[in-house]
Amino acid sequence: MEAQPIVGLKEAVEERRAARSFRPDPIPEGVLSEILRLGVRAPSGYNLQPWRFIVVKQQENKEKLKACAFNQRQISEAPVVLICCGDRLVSQPEYIESIIKLGIEAQAMNEAFANYMREQIPVLFQYHPCFESVEAWTNRHTMLAVAHIMIVAKSFGVDSCPMEGFITAQVKEAFNIPEHLDVCCLLPLGYATEPFKLYGGRFKIEQVCYSESYGEPFKI
Ligand SMILES: Cc1cc2nc3c(=O)[nH]c(=O)nc-3n(C[C@H](O)[C@H](O)[C@H](O)COP(=O)(O)O)c2cc1C
Repeated sequence: MEAQPIVGLKEAVEERRAARSFRPDPIPEGVLSEILRLGVRAPSGYNLQPWRFIVVKQQENKEKLKACAFNQRQISEAPVVLICCGDRLVSQPEYIESIIKLGIEAQAMNEAFANYMREQIPVLFQYHPCFESVEAWTNRHTMLAVAHIMIVAKSFGVDSCPMEGFITAQVKEAFNIPEHLDVCCLLPLGYATEPFKLYGGRFKIEQVCYSESYGEPFKI
């Protein structure tokens, strides 16, 4: 039977914290697979889904990863760590065909749109008017999936810690990650130790939102 969430959406958002320490308890396989399945329901441009996840569970591999991440303890303590990567090769014709096949099989795409994708995606990546670099693009999409994963995980009672504190080149070498993949973030997953980290607060909505154009005060 499919694992079911135990925490509602609002609570999951409000209770998610970046956990710095985990209990050794494993995440049940059914829960992990639901977290990943729902996490990759994240949106992506042209549905290109550039995210790739290396699921690290073995202690010796976690120790290896920890050494690439300034020895941050949450990596070796968490039962599962995701190395979250973004693939820069998604504009290759064979990859575009695999996305088209998916869309056509799901009856969500017609031939006209498939042809539009075949034509437009290579151009988008060649001139990239909508992003500074392909790395910025892979990062944009992979982190959306990471955000989904963190909230879905919390809804199953599973804590997480998004991490940028690692040496990319070391992680790539240690885990055989090819050149065309960008390592966007590490994500330990598991059950946080108590007492749990307190909420650090957020700026007020008026401090981060503007009305109609930048700098114009926003009021609800
Ligand atoms: C992209 C990103 C990178 C982060 N990197 C680290 C990290 O390397 N180590 C760490 O302990 N926390 C890291 N954090 C966690 C933040 O410190 C934490 O999210 C922030 O203080 C807010 O706390 P909260 O998530 O518990 O609300 C990172 C968060 C994000 C979103």
